[in-house]
Amino acid sequence: MCGITGYIGSGSAIEITINNLKRLEYRGYDSAGVAYSSTDAVSIVRAPGKIKNLEALLPTSVEGIGVAIAHTRWATHGRPCEENAHPHRDCTGQLAVVHNGIIENYAELRRELIAKGHEFASETDTETLAHLIEEMCALEGDCDKTEGVANAIRKALHHVKGSYALAVISQDSPDTVFVARKESPLIIGLGEGENFIASDIPAVMRYTRNVVLLEDGDFAILTPNSVTITDFEGNPLERKPFLVTWDDAAAEKGGNAHFMIKEIYENPRTVRETLRGRLMDDGEIVLPSLPFSAEQWQAFRRISIVACGTAYHAGVVGKSFFEQLLRRPVEVNVASEFRYSDPILDKETLVVLISQSGETADTLAAMREAQHKGATTLAIVNVVGSTLARDADAVLLTQAGPEIGVASTKAYLAQLTALYLLGLYLARHDASGNSRLTEAEYHSYVSALRELPAQIEAIITQEASYSQLAEELAKHHCFFYLGRRYDFASSLEAALKMKEISYIHAEAYPAGEMKHGPLALVEPGVAVVGFCTQPDTNEKMVSNLKEVKAREGTIITVIREGDETPDCADYTLSVPITKEAFMPLLSMVPMQLLAYHVARTLGCEIDQPRNLAKSVTVE
Ligand code: AGP
Repeated sequence: MCGITGYIGSGSAIEITINNLKRLEYRGYDSAGVAYSSTDAVSIVRAPGKIKNLEALLPTSVEGIGVAIAHTRWATHGRPCEENAHPHRDCTGQLAVVHNGIIENYAELRRELIAKGHEFASETDTETLAHLIEEMCALEGDCDKTEGVANAIRKALHHVKGSYALAVISQDSPDTVFVARKESPLIIGLGEGENFIASDIPAVMRYTRNVVLLEDGDFAILTPNSVTITDFEGNPLERKPFLVTWDDAAAEKGGNAHFMIKEIYENPRTVRETLRGRLMDDGEIVLPSLPFSAEQWQAFRRISIVACGTAYHAGVVGKSFFEQLLRRPVEVNVASEFRYSDPILDKETLVVLISQSGETADTLAAMREAQHKGATTLAIVNVVGSTLARDADAVLLTQAGPEIGVASTKAYLAQLTALYLLGLYLARHDASGNSRLTEAEYHSYVSALRELPAQIEAIITQEASYSQLAEELAKHHCFFYLGRRYDFASSLEAALKMKEISYIHAEAYPAGEMKHGPLALVEPGVAVVGFCTQPDTNEKMVSNLKEVKAREGTIITVIREGDETPDCADYTLSVPITKEAFMPLLSMVPMQLLAYHVARTLGCEIDQPRNLAKSVTVE
């Protein structure tokens, strides 16, 4: 998730654009750049790292420059470095583009453009857009005026698959900014004799609160005194502006009270982004970033999953899923234990390391231990330029965008989605004959993956009921989360969410273990959340919950829509039905919302809970 800003008007375009970009630095910060139209050329300045590095390189005399677009990067394709920083140019240097999103067919487009003589200067998918527009200009031949450039951009976008918020400036139309939006947010700020663009509302609020939210398929041409919006065929569209009433702090969270709730709402989009470019229209799963041949995959006789915290909980789901499909031994370990356990590893072991930040000290140490012992390491990681992403033998990016709230929410769903993709991919390409996945089952799993974002959206519409329940649950002094198999993995993550932001003691237990001790703690004021989403163990679950009920604990059950509500339940949450292995992904959304609202009810600090850090870079 990168940050884009732009300006056109009589003000100091570079200064305004860069200042606005700083309001978006939370969206991505591994490099930044600005392009601006001066009298005879489109100039570009870029720098690795934070925006302040870019400011140090800007021209001293920036007066009289009325058009600029800028970008702060969250790398998805290509290392974080100056060459890969946006803006990117075409061969002529006459136009510059900035982009937020993923061009899924960039490799194919790049090959075609190189074959036509275009020369690329970066590893990014974005640069493909610049050369594609240049190619369309050459074909159209009338790019010496605004409408010609607009047509060339619109035609180029018909060749593009993927998501984009795109801004373009061209020397052929120096007093214009061209923008387009498909699945990545982009807004227009309307001023007097000036207009603004940005990825998010906070970036323009110091200049205007009168904004237009572009919709998917919108294309717009901005001049200092006009904004013309069309579809990609050039047909005019009407988009009503609205007045932003949020204060600055709220605006950075998209009008939400906390980053955590904003990121919970981003869960559907996050799962879509993790699937993007991997789950093809024909149902095939492609993992181009993984450099292993079929023989190399075959040679991995064992898989060891290693992570911390939420990422470890995702690994618990991954273990069950991989073993279910691959029928190969899979273990899952907490990184801080793994690194000191003298693990039995060899060249036939694949060590899968999961991490949102890619900087967790214990997980990095586990990677080094695994590599020292000759194992192959595969990182499932969110931050592209992180140490884990750089040093692992292979990387599968979760593509969740920056996660700001310390309590991990969307990153967990992205990690699960990546594990599901990997498990299905390995099973589908397993020549050993051990895997248990028929063609029909594979396609059934693929259909279930495609349904997940909409199912998450349906759960989020129930938020009000979770907020109401939270007021009741906030009165409890202790929580147990119980489950069996995949539901036990859900218990682990749900308990962590509750304890880390509400500060109420919460622990997860395999449901069958309660009578081996923990049941002694059950009394009035103890809440027990029982996950009942696994049909083959639900009967046992209900009898475990009845043991709790008999000791006057409060019972909250999580069931699949349509399943019978256990009569011992005081409260029941239902989630849409999906594959048993995918239930931990859907079950976690109500748990995240419940923990969030309990913490709000208790007046806790939510985005930065006490004693915790977003990335634990120390042992
Ligand atoms: C979970 O909400 C916490 N943020 C924490 O457990 C986190 O998942 C853990 O520290 C691992 O971080 P990583 O994914 O960045 O490696």
